[in-house]
Amino acid sequence: MNPAEYPITTTIAQVHNYMDQNIRIQGWLYSKRSSGKIHFLQIRDGSGSIQCVVVRSEVPPEVFAVSEVLSQESAVIVEGLVRRDTRSSLGYELSVQNLIHVSTAPDYPITHKEHGIDFLLDHRHLWIRTPRQRAILKIRAEVLRAMSDYLDGNGFTRVDPPILTPTAAEGTTELFHIQYFDQEAYLTQSGQMYMEAAAMAMGKVYSMGPTFRAERSKTRRHLIEFWMIEPEMAYFTHEDNLKLQESFLSAVVQQVLNHCQPELELLGRDLTRLRAVQPPFPRMSYDDAVVWLQNQGHEIQWGEDFGAPDESELANQFDRPVFIERYPTKVKAFYMQPDPKRPEVALCADLLAPEGYGEIVGGSERIHDYTLMKERFIEHKLPNEDYAWYLDLRKYGSVPHSGFGIGLERTVAWICGLEHVREAAAFPRLLYRLYP
Ligand code: 4AD
Ligand code: MG
Repeated sequence: MNPAEYPITTTIAQVHNYMDQNIRIQGWLYSKRSSGKIHFLQIRDGSGSIQCVVVRSEVPPEVFAVSEVLSQESAVIVEGLVRRDTRSSLGYELSVQNLIHVSTAPDYPITHKEHGIDFLLDHRHLWIRTPRQRAILKIRAEVLRAMSDYLDGNGFTRVDPPILTPTAAEGTTELFHIQYFDQEAYLTQSGQMYMEAAAMAMGKVYSMGPTFRAERSKTRRHLIEFWMIEPEMAYFTHEDNLKLQESFLSAVVQQVLNHCQPELELLGRDLTRLRAVQPPFPRMSYDDAVVWLQNQGHEIQWGEDFGAPDESELANQFDRPVFIERYPTKVKAFYMQPDPKRPEVALCADLLAPEGYGEIVGGSERIHDYTLMKERFIEHKLPNEDYAWYLDLRKYGSVPHSGFGIGLERTVAWICGLEHVREAAAFPRLLYRLYP
């Protein structure tokens, strides 16, 4: 076969641009059917998959023989003619003329049968090749892109906080300790404190990156390593913060709907649920939420934090995410601004996703007063020397400011309709899983 006949190497996603032309694709065998004289090879290349038809009478004997023995996940380069075919799901297929067997994949562990979750997680490096996992990873990438698009387009500057930190942002119980030469350090739980510094420098900023929590939680919502996107805005009130969050999240969901419909459909996602995600989002005070839950028979008392069943039931009343506002100061982080009219509650909100996904965003107005922040340091026994820089922000040109953190994997799990947050990360770190 003359390679000059194949000037075009393309991806499967682009094949529709080459109707009735000879092309070459480079991928892997996903599945195969045979009828003696014809082999139907489903080839995937990461951009999509396409049926490639090998007809005995139309190819050299060695090409037919190779396609006969190809096993699942063998690497192949396929050359052929793009032909319309109304019977195929794409409306076209590749009529194979040549096939180059790049490498074999003997006894590929992930077959087209059902596998248990532990087996799949042990083989996560291979599991991500399947269409469903590919769709989730595509959507995750689109969620990140949509988040940057929205924030970059609305006057925010991306700033990257450090991963190695000397302090805890969200309490000391869930820290990963590491040795930083002769000093103790931690993996970051949240970039928030650094973003507060950056907001005083740049006005509106955001970070996106990995955060770590040594949480001994084995639930469908918890990862040990997860990505957080943390916008922080100078001169933003609590109210401004909520308005931004609903506009931001709605824009993200609508962009994913616009760009990832095939992936969402492959996952079987009910798109009407996502189309409903438009501002304004409903709001409920923590006080009302507690009373409502008590009326539903929940054990919760004022002053306690919500559990997962509480959050699910609260959120299931609504068709879009709901803000629960003004939690008791005692159950929330030290930096939250107390409500001036009722200092026992904070100017904060958690955003709960519908359909049982629970909290996807936590945010608040931050304490900007030097004296009050100093009092909180004493109450929370935060060592002055480690947090001196954070206190400086209240000393030099302090202004009211607000921000929030949105968990990427929980957001992706909700948008995709996943049962567990673990499928929203390429290589999830779970309580009992560090491999692969
Ligand atoms: O509510 P959290 O702990 O808030 C903060 O860390 C703030 N400093 C953020 C800020 O205001 N800049 O975490 C924020 C979000 C949660 O709503 C959740 O979506 C996600 O991070 N999250 C987790 N996701 C997966 N696994 C875990 N263990 C998570 N912990 C928090
Ligand atoms: Mg929270």
